[in-house]
Amino acid sequence: MTNEFRTLDSHSAEYFGDTRDYWWNLDYIALIGRRLAFDRVHDVLDVGCGIGHWTEVLASALPADARVTGIDRDPLWIEKATERVAARGLSDRFQYRASDAQTLPFPDSSFDLVTCQTVLIHVADPGAVIAEMTRVARPGGLVLASEPNNVASSLVLNSNAFNDPVEEILSGVELQLTCERGKAALGEGNNSVGDVVPGLFKAAGLEEIVVYLNDKANPFLPPYGTPEQRAMLEERQDFEARDFWIWSRDDTRRYFLAGGGVEARFDALWASVTGGAERFEKSIADRTYSHAGGALNYLVAGRKAAG
Ligand SMILES: C[S@@+](CC[C@H](N)C(=O)[O-])C[C@H]1O[C@@H](n2cnc3c(N)ncnc32)[C@H](O)[C@@H]1O
Repeated sequence: MTNEFRTLDSHSAEYFGDTRDYWWNLDYIALIGRRLAFDRVHDVLDVGCGIGHWTEVLASALPADARVTGIDRDPLWIEKATERVAARGLSDRFQYRASDAQTLPFPDSSFDLVTCQTVLIHVADPGAVIAEMTRVARPGGLVLASEPNNVASSLVLNSNAFNDPVEEILSGVELQLTCERGKAALGEGNNSVGDVVPGLFKAAGLEEIVVYLNDKANPFLPPYGTPEQRAMLEERQDFEARDFWIWSRDDTRRYFLAGGGVEARFDALWASVTGGAERFEKSIADRTYSHAGGALNYLVAGRKAAG
């Protein structure tokens, strides 16, 4: 199964499928490790760890004896993350516990590396979470955030959409941007917060701030046969079968209205972003569908002053 969690109520369950294993090039992570001196890192905190995907990726470039602690607000994810590391025989080095990112249960200056991935996009006050991450970093230690601008993806096209009417393409942008604003207004986080994370690092007093972009694209090409492409195809077909876009229809409506969207416009916008299933399936069957799979994901690093 591509995503055994997808129908659970827990946060981000729709996004903890196999596709998440293909978010990074490990040689790029090794390069980041050299740029940011991961060789000096022994204690790591993964904030909003989910089931542990991010620290599993980072671990490939960390010293073999680095110890990782993960926290997440959702106790179910803590249970699953704990099971995953146990299955890989890593329980002595990877430990998980439930807590909120805004009140981390650790003394000041506890970790060499404090990190998060796609978590600041879900919190009401990302600046407060970054301040807390900075508090628990050691002097000279690293704070590292991997956070996207998701609305950029509404203009990443594919072989079907390239010649679609401009208004139709812009409908998708309108719906996503309005929903992102609504989600933020409801205190559930700004899905494109990546753009402002470097400024928030600066405001938190972090130094030596650098910003990189994830260099991984997820191209999708006939005959769609790699494990990565099969996972993407299954996920998309599953989303279509369950009338799920980026969010469920109910959440999308809730965000749209909170973002200032007009109820009377919602059904048409929803149809424009979810309506292409038949055309997609046909183009998969006749092997004409393709996309380059670009996304805008920032990797932002800063150091706590050495003191
Ligand atoms: C999109 S997932 C990212 C999970 C993980 N970082 C990864 O990249 O695989 C967001 C995670 O943040 C957690 N989360 C959201 N708000 C939180 C908060 N205030 N404190 C702790 N965890 C939080 C959710 O429970 C969820 O597991």
